[in-house]
Amino acid sequence: MDVFRIEGPVRLCGSVRINGSKNASLPIMAAAILSAGKSVLKGVPNLSDISVFGELLRQLGCRLSKTPAGDLHIDSTVINNPVGEYEIVRRMRASICILGPLLARCGRAEVSMPGGCAIGDRPVDIHLRGLKQLGVRINLKNGYIVAEAPHGLTGRDIFLGGPFGSTVLGTANVLMAATLAKGRTIIESAACEPEIAHLANCLNKMGAKITGIGSPKLTIEGVKQLQPGEFEVIPDRIEAGTFMAAAAITKGELKLENCQLEDMMAVVDKLRNIGVTVESAGDGCVVSRTGSMTPIDVTTQPYPGFPTDLQAQFMALLALAEGNSIIIEKVFPDRFMHVAELNRMAANLRKEGPTVIVAGVKKLIAAPVMASDLRASAALVLAGLAAEGTTVVNRVYHIDRGYERIEERLNPLGAKISRESV
Ligand code: EPU
Repeated sequence: MDVFRIEGPVRLCGSVRINGSKNASLPIMAAAILSAGKSVLKGVPNLSDISVFGELLRQLGCRLSKTPAGDLHIDSTVINNPVGEYEIVRRMRASICILGPLLARCGRAEVSMPGGCAIGDRPVDIHLRGLKQLGVRINLKNGYIVAEAPHGLTGRDIFLGGPFGSTVLGTANVLMAATLAKGRTIIESAACEPEIAHLANCLNKMGAKITGIGSPKLTIEGVKQLQPGEFEVIPDRIEAGTFMAAAAITKGELKLENCQLEDMMAVVDKLRNIGVTVESAGDGCVVSRTGSMTPIDVTTQPYPGFPTDLQAQFMALLALAEGNSIIIEKVFPDRFMHVAELNRMAANLRKEGPTVIVAGVKKLIAAPVMASDLRASAALVLAGLAAEGTTVVNRVYHIDRGYERIEERLNPLGAKISRESV
């Protein structure tokens, strides 16, 4: 198991290119199932989550290969085993988004029911409710969702909202299934995340008929078949937000290339309120900080609100602001495993239900800490860059799920991070 040894404090300076989005790549990989043939995905990041999803597609019958240029080729001519095994789903919950495409393509699917994870319960009831409305029969057997649509799928008007608003992968699942359903489907309370808009655009490129893209009301006219396509994955707005926080926490200056600021308005707005400068430049932006940080309130919400996937990183940042900030988690109310770890680094955080009161401190002090999930580990790395001394982050495999060799991207900018196997 790898650990990071991070020497701090440092000041980050320089230029970094943002990779393709993990959370955009995964549903597009699933969408390849909807057509029989060879799809090409350009700009897919080199991450363990992507490899695991590739393994899942192989088990279904797909053939995958990567070109030296990094393009991912998915040949979905044969799907002969529409089963998402427990062994893979337990490693990655996003595996659930093969359910809709498999039902549309094969009329049946068995996918292991995802369990909880470090960020909460994460039910899939809304996915199943939406698919049932398209005519799918669903039973639970030995921990598997056994889904059948022997007479095909039929378009319907579907409300997909839940107790925490829209669902990203739930929308992806129902949207993908509806592309091949008979007649028209309307999804109300659809997720508006850029990754979902991107998926819908890719599906239209494959021959789907989706309108209302980017809005909470998606209209899908079912078509008889889809063709494989070639897709360029959008930049990862969460990786970009993490690098922005890295510039801010180290009082540095970073140029982010390949970064779509228009997808990050809530994040940019918060950074500017904190006292961080964000200016658009070329195909990205320059982020810098010179003065002290003003405390702010942050509430996570579905897009276009502030993303839950940057909550932990902003908590690390606000730990060093001059005064009290409040962070309210409205998407995953239990996503706070990083609180106790950041406190081990001399942050002053107090959790009250889904709220954390962040009392700013003058400095963070290095400590051995434990990564618990992907974004929590990113927060610990950020804290380590700013803390005095050597921070040791254990269980680095969490960060490798969503950030490609992050130490090799940060070190040329001035970080001092070494990866060690223990
Ligand atoms: N929810 C339900 N029922 C459902 C589905 C969701 O109650 O059937 C609830 C969830 O428990 C949560 C809220 O709805 O409280 C939103 O969850 P959502 O379904 O939108 O999450 P997801 O689709 O499973 C994706 C990302 C997550 C990201 C969330 C929210 C991927 C692969 N995952 O998950 O990314 O946090 O949307 O934006 O796209 C990450 O990258 O670190 C990550 C966890």
